[in-house]
Amino acid sequence: MCGIIAYIGDEDAAPILLEGLRRLEYRGYDSAGIITIDNAGEFELKKDVGRVQDIHNELNLLDLEGHIGIAHTRWATHGGVTQANAHPHVSNNSKIAVIHNGIVENYKDLKSLLVSKGFHFDSQTDTEVIPNLIEYWMDSKGLSFIDSTIKTLQSLEGNFAVVIIDRDSRTIVGAKNGSPLVLGVGDRKKNEFFLASDIPAFLDRTKDVVYLYDGDMVILQSESSSPRATMKGSYKILDFRARTKKPIIRPIQSVSWSLAHAAKGEFDHFMLKEIAEQVETIQKAAAQDRELVQSVTESIRNAKGVFLVASGSSYHACLSASYLFAKLASFHINTVIASEFSQYESFLKPETLVIAVSQSGETIDVLDAVKTAKEKGCHIVSIVNVMGSSLTQISHKTLLLNSGPEISVLSTKTYTAQLALLSLLAYSLAGRYEEGLSKLKFLWNIVYNLTAATTRTKIKELSTTLANHEHIFVLGRGSLYATALEAALKIKEVSYIHAEAFAGGELKHGPIAMIKKGTPIVIFVSKDTEKTILSNAMEVKSRGGYIIGIGPEPIESFDFFIKVPESNSLNPICQIIPIQILAYQLAVILGHDPDKPRNLAKSVTVR
Ligand code: F6R
Repeated sequence: MCGIIAYIGDEDAAPILLEGLRRLEYRGYDSAGIITIDNAGEFELKKDVGRVQDIHNELNLLDLEGHIGIAHTRWATHGGVTQANAHPHVSNNSKIAVIHNGIVENYKDLKSLLVSKGFHFDSQTDTEVIPNLIEYWMDSKGLSFIDSTIKTLQSLEGNFAVVIIDRDSRTIVGAKNGSPLVLGVGDRKKNEFFLASDIPAFLDRTKDVVYLYDGDMVILQSESSSPRATMKGSYKILDFRARTKKPIIRPIQSVSWSLAHAAKGEFDHFMLKEIAEQVETIQKAAAQDRELVQSVTESIRNAKGVFLVASGSSYHACLSASYLFAKLASFHINTVIASEFSQYESFLKPETLVIAVSQSGETIDVLDAVKTAKEKGCHIVSIVNVMGSSLTQISHKTLLLNSGPEISVLSTKTYTAQLALLSLLAYSLAGRYEEGLSKLKFLWNIVYNLTAATTRTKIKELSTTLANHEHIFVLGRGSLYATALEAALKIKEVSYIHAEAFAGGELKHGPIAMIKKGTPIVIFVSKDTEKTILSNAMEVKSRGGYIIGIGPEPIESFDFFIKVPESNSLNPICQIIPIQILAYQLAVILGHDPDKPRNLAKSVTVR
């Protein structure tokens, strides 16, 4: 939800910022902008609505001069998609500029204060109060830029990541409170540093990062007007909530993600690339440190009450896994949508274990749920893809998915990685860790065939048939009910065709009224649910429905069949893959961008 990138160093800032924006576009793509400080010490600003490339074609973002600058790609929250609302936002005196991810919840109060002091506002955003408050403290109280910034940050309510640039002192400040922000430590000979919402934004320049924590404020200076104060080539981290300006030491860590992970390579879209990557990512998710899995297993076993908490696709992975925990280990896990978790607050005790599952580790609903649980003294385990993300920082233990960056807005490879890791935990809890591991290894071949070109060509035929339909229904039973929910989500979020999932048994309780001649229904079949789900298929067939069967064997009533070999408890991992491909191809046929579906953003940092 909004992408932030900042650069300071000896190279021209604009090409680095533009490339960073391109890499961050998956986080928001309503509008974008860059501001630099040119060699004469003036701000140069360009921003507009639209995709980064279109804005660049129109405005030539590369001719912004200077070695220091900040840039932003927006997913609108406060204020519509207009040029005026695009970031960066500049203070009334044109000396301070700000880019921002998150929401300033008390912006109305702050704005009224500033208006009463004579400030004017050019946008409808909450962000614009930030540069103006800094200007206000500097001018009215004679505070330095840093002190005014600290005072301003202390007055902001809500979750945010902000990057602020001061024209006169040529200083960049980044601060984080609940939204992601990471510091990249670049080539020291070039005195270069980066701040970004996500590591891929600067992965072509450095793999050395400092994960920032809530309350952290990083100061980067190119050269100060006062030579004594210069800290060119270094950085300082402070806690903006603290009374003193005592520096905080955070380690520089090297990330294992490579640039190839963040590039499309031979594929037309990241979504397709990431679907294909599942051959490896499922294996990587299963290749966990055994002791860590064992210790999480013990935490599950010893807890009095276990909750799996997540949103969207990650929630579907949890729901699917809850069937497996029940079946393999006779263990009941409460699976709760993160935004609903507060309703369960009264069940939370110090002995309760909360397992939070999130690709990004930044989903605000998940973070809120975990914070609630922590206040009640619960033990927190997280399952996350992005190392160093906010969720990892507030968890007692973290298992990493190791899927590499997922750039497409839709989760595909991280969904199956979550399933693989949760399945391993269920096997471990059942005392069958080795068996689980070897079963997961065996999936390699199945996933390879499912993602191969021949399967993709076959599914393309199906997408041509389905592209003109208004509704697609999806049925599954047991853990494949969760697969049905995930399949419907994948189809609707990228093709914009209405897709709805039902547990097979629910069909006759209402949804069957929707079936008429030609209505497409996807049915997930597995050995253990075969009898009942096929009788649901017959109910649909006799009302003229068009049945797409996904499972081990073709059945007469199927109009279209996609073979997915039986893998018993691991069926959900394999069976979703054809639907990921179908959703992708529907988007392409219908002329939608599969990597950036309308209205969606990769990580949801607003409530
Ligand atoms: C669907 C999708 C979303 C996310 C959800 C949670 O394709 O990507 O539904 O699954 O926003 O995100 P994370 O897993 O980052 O917490």
